[in-house]
Amino acid sequence: MIANIIIKPFSLNQKIPYHLLLLADPSKEIIDTYLNKSEIYVAILNKEVIGIYVLYETQFDKVEIKNIAIAEDYQGKGIGKLMLQHATKTAKEKGYKSIIIGTANSSIAQLYLYQKQGFDITEIKKDFFLKNYPEPLIENGIQVKHMVMLKMEL
Ligand code: ACO
Repeated sequence: MIANIIIKPFSLNQKIPYHLLLLADPSKEIIDTYLNKSEIYVAILNKEVIGIYVLYETQFDKVEIKNIAIAEDYQGKGIGKLMLQHATKTAKEKGYKSIIIGTANSSIAQLYLYQKQGFDITEIKKDFFLKNYPEPLIENGIQVKHMVMLKMEL
């Protein structure tokens, strides 16, 4: 299946797959603050968009993966890892010197995946989710409170 997946840039003229973006970030308002200033890539399988990642330039030489998500039916099959590798390769080809990604203190699988792919924890934004999201969030039975930032040199 992985061999049949095509990852390609996504134009904002097309219908935005918010159902995927919302898997990674529960706030559409927050998603809309970065989407127009980002480059979006999607994973296509049999003409269906099954994955997405969003690259946002934070400094002239640094880019952030603001959002990465795989459709629920396709999670756990190695596609997230594929998208992450595509994102780092794309960022490097575009001349960025580092790539960063943020995830919650409660996002165990994501912290595993990002570190296994070579990202290193650089910063913890204390109470980020308490300050920026109106509703209390629980994930893996843990309250979502802090943003853990990770970075990879390219
Ligand atoms: N617990 C522990 N490990 C896990 C879990 C889990 N629940 N799920 C996957 N893994 C491991 C896999 O075993 C694999 O490890 P390996 O390389 O040692 O074999 C590794 O993580 C990668 O797994 P993939 O199958 O590539 O992951 P997937 O395709 O599911 O993509 C992703 C990961 C993007 C997190 C996906 O599950 C998803 O869309 N989740 C919901 C949205 C989300 O949380 N997005 C990230 C938010 S942070 C941000 O967007 C910046």
